[in-house]
Amino acid sequence: MRRRFGTLVPIDLAPGVPATLVVDDRTARRILDDPSRFPSDPRVWQQKAPAGLPIVPMMQWRPNPLRTHGPDHDRYRAVTVDALAGVDPNSLRTTVSRIAMDLINEFCSDGAADLLDRYVVPLVFRTMDNILGCPPELGDLLRLALTEMTAGAADDGSEPRIQQLLAELIACRRAEPGDDVTSRLIRHPANLSDEELVHQLLGLYWTGIEPPRNLIANTLLLILTDPRFTSNHTGFAPPAGAALDEVLASDPPLANHTISYPPCPVVVDDVLLPADQPVLIGAAACHSDPARSSTPVPHEDRNLAWGRGPHACPAQARTISRLLAEEAVDQLLDALPDLTTAFDPDRTIWRPGPFHRALIALPVRFPPAPGMPLG
Ligand code: HEM
Repeated sequence: MRRRFGTLVPIDLAPGVPATLVVDDRTARRILDDPSRFPSDPRVWQQKAPAGLPIVPMMQWRPNPLRTHGPDHDRYRAVTVDALAGVDPNSLRTTVSRIAMDLINEFCSDGAADLLDRYVVPLVFRTMDNILGCPPELGDLLRLALTEMTAGAADDGSEPRIQQLLAELIACRRAEPGDDVTSRLIRHPANLSDEELVHQLLGLYWTGIEPPRNLIANTLLLILTDPRFTSNHTGFAPPAGAALDEVLASDPPLANHTISYPPCPVVVDDVLLPADQPVLIGAAACHSDPARSSTPVPHEDRNLAWGRGPHACPAQARTISRLLAEEAVDQLLDALPDLTTAFDPDRTIWRPGPFHRALIALPVRFPPAPGMPLG
């Protein structure tokens, strides 16, 4: 694409949904740092978007940080960041480790499992339920509805169901506030309405589930299939953190993200981008940009996996994600050190979709092990 089109590639996000994919690292950074010409507000675009398309619910305007611009964005982001700031990393680590051990105990004597289905997905959902203060029964229903929504069955009724379930979560935490993100969102001085609260939570479930799920699964895939991660020259396997960093750099969990909609036609790199047409940052493509290696990039800014500019993933969420992903990988490999893949690694199956880099399954084999005692 880079050879044929240069830095900006004309694409169709879905039939009848033209967009531009940015595949050049420098151009991506310029666009991400220029929110007034590239605001993330889809309202004008969505009036003309074809009805019933599965990707529309993922892109449409919502009163949350991800899909707003300017003062609205600043307000929603501040509330979300304040609520996430209350998450205590030490107790989160204990929670993740307990959930991980519970899940491993459910399949460790079987000798085989689909890690995505039995471990990664339930671990990430239960952790987010815990962070958001969502009771387990409600969390199970939300997991089903959110999975349908991201699977992309348009007009399947999942959106009203999700909103109803999130309204129930808000009612629960209003009746019985706790030390959790939902309770902090409710009592925040910004005084969000119920509709706004529902959309903060929907945004948190969307951003808090899909990328960590992919980061953990893709890191496990790397560790299980790349000899560099089985053991290195010292005879020890490199720590999980090194594999996580490599996945973030080479195979970001959100391959394409930060959709903006220029309100006026704008010329970038000699290409005229039309008004109100989506522009996406191709993070995976930018990371493989050959010009990138010759440009020095500051350490904290190494890659675009976490986004950049006003919509970048908040620092608090990054801390949560790293902790969750490291703990998920470490617990599993400690409990089942002889894991091997149960599929041909050259035939890995990826879930189609314009935004994520996600496995469909991660089947593994291992010598059956007894369950771990839970403290
Ligand atoms: C591997 C883990 C994660 C990665 C790679 C990641 C990456 C990103 C990226 C690329 C964006 C920008 C998206 C866009 O503008 O389209 C973003 C935004 C965001 N992320 Fe994350 N994220 C991760 C985990 C999380 C978690 C666990 C949470 C919450 C607990 C979270 C909360 C958010 C929020 C609230 C935003 C919107 C910020 C804004 O628009 O101002 N993220 N994330």
